[in-house]
Amino acid sequence: MSINSQKVVGIIIAAGNSTRMQSNRYKQEYMFGSKILVQHAVEALKSAGVADVVVVLNKNLQRIEEYLTQQEGVHVAYQVSMKGTAGAVATGIEFWTNHNSTNGQKRELGNTPILITCGDMPLIHSSTYAKMVELYTTGEGVDVVLATANLDNPYGYGRIVRTTENKVDKIVEHKDASAKELKISEVNTGVYMSNIQTLNQLISKVGTANSSQEYYLTDIVTSESKAVVFDDPNQFTGINTRTDLSHALEIYFERNANRLMENSGVTVMNPKNTYIDHDVTAGKDTIIYPNVTLQGATSLGEGVIVHSGSRLADSVVGDGVNILDGSIVLNSTVENLATVGPYAYLRPGTTLGEASKAGTFVEMKKATIGNNAKVPHLSYIGDATVGDNTNVGCGTITVNYDGFNKNRTNIGSNAFVGSGAMLIAPVEVADGAMVAAGTVVTQGVPTDALGIARSPQRNVDGFVEKYRKGKKKIKQANSSDNTQKQHS
Ligand code: UD1
Ligand code: MG
Repeated sequence: MSINSQKVVGIIIAAGNSTRMQSNRYKQEYMFGSKILVQHAVEALKSAGVADVVVVLNKNLQRIEEYLTQQEGVHVAYQVSMKGTAGAVATGIEFWTNHNSTNGQKRELGNTPILITCGDMPLIHSSTYAKMVELYTTGEGVDVVLATANLDNPYGYGRIVRTTENKVDKIVEHKDASAKELKISEVNTGVYMSNIQTLNQLISKVGTANSSQEYYLTDIVTSESKAVVFDDPNQFTGINTRTDLSHALEIYFERNANRLMENSGVTVMNPKNTYIDHDVTAGKDTIIYPNVTLQGATSLGEGVIVHSGSRLADSVVGDGVNILDGSIVLNSTVENLATVGPYAYLRPGTTLGEASKAGTFVEMKKATIGNNAKVPHLSYIGDATVGDNTNVGCGTITVNYDGFNKNRTNIGSNAFVGSGAMLIAPVEVADGAMVAAGTVVTQGVPTDALGIARSPQRNVDGFVEKYRKGKKKIKQANSSDNTQKQHS
């Protein structure tokens, strides 16, 4: 079978101990944007057309297996022996070989092409992986294709040592390199392409004669290997330390901001200070102020303004929406021309209709707000429906929780809820109804009716004058008492 007709299998090695992170956790499960670190490599391989991906983890990372394997074609294998990157690849190959055995009979998988990458490099473009497949497929007689890059600061990376004919001679790890080798700027990116049979042969020869006494994958490189230099060296940033992590995040967020500016006509006022995830989309003439976080699969329409201090996650925002400062929008939908904030909190399951408003210090949860409906200030609207053109006055609260269950409040369209109303759910305010300010609504208000529940007001004539006089007398008596005490 030719390589062309063989499906490439990706192996992501991610079983290291993350020692340099100085953490109680493993770097593979750190959040990088809105996804764990290792997931970025999985997605880039998948986008490059790699159908099956084996993620090699250490046994302490079983908690992420379920998350990873819920994706089609993603498998997890555990590295238990042969410490080092070569051991991790051997684990991946063994897993794939066993996975493909039928009735205990292993199928012939020798020429299955294998694309290897590291789980700590979240910035590699899927086009780089696709290019590696192409290079290997067309590279007659090459045993391993290796991706390299020229770095201004190659500190920490394995260096590519080339022969006088410019062929790859070997890879030397930073800690094993001589002073002369440390000056080499061409580094091993950790991305390799070969096939199962060749890898099995090459890995079986790898030993542990290095300063870490580990099986280094870098030792599979021979004079038959081909090292190809890739552009955009930033994409190969590997995360070994906390400093690497912050550096990689900086590149990630800036890259995503640039993508929106260059491809989608979005203004990002300060890309260095804006935190946009890889999957975020936005339409023309949208403006994003500094210190905004756009997470997950958030999509913004055209002409949206997102002001400073706002965070939107997995939400859909229509055209012309204005998100004012300090607002949080989670798993919600905001339709065209609506206004959010300042300081609004839209919790999951909220839909704001067209030209509607969730204003200053308004919190909503599982709320559906109709077109043109307004909730302008200081309200909590939870488990509720508000109809079209309805106005909900300042400080209104839907009392949705009775200590046991969450209950719904339904307010119809063209209704008016006065300020400071408490709507004790389950309760219904029908279309066109009014609720008087300060009312505690315990029973439904019918269509076009006024619901009012207040104790009548009483004015006491002349009360304030008497009250002030009384207070003044007490004050004077107290101060003369104090003066006497001081002189005695
Ligand atoms: C490795 C390469 C180095 C390259 C750099 C690119 C080796 C020996 N060195 O160095 O040449 O420049 O990546 O980023 O390969 N891992 C396992 N099992 C292990 C050890 C490591 O799965 O026993 C995994 C790690 O989780 C990580 C990857 O392999 O995802 C690379 O290991 P890491 O310790 O980060 O190696 P580097 O020092 O970065
Ligand atoms: Mg690394």
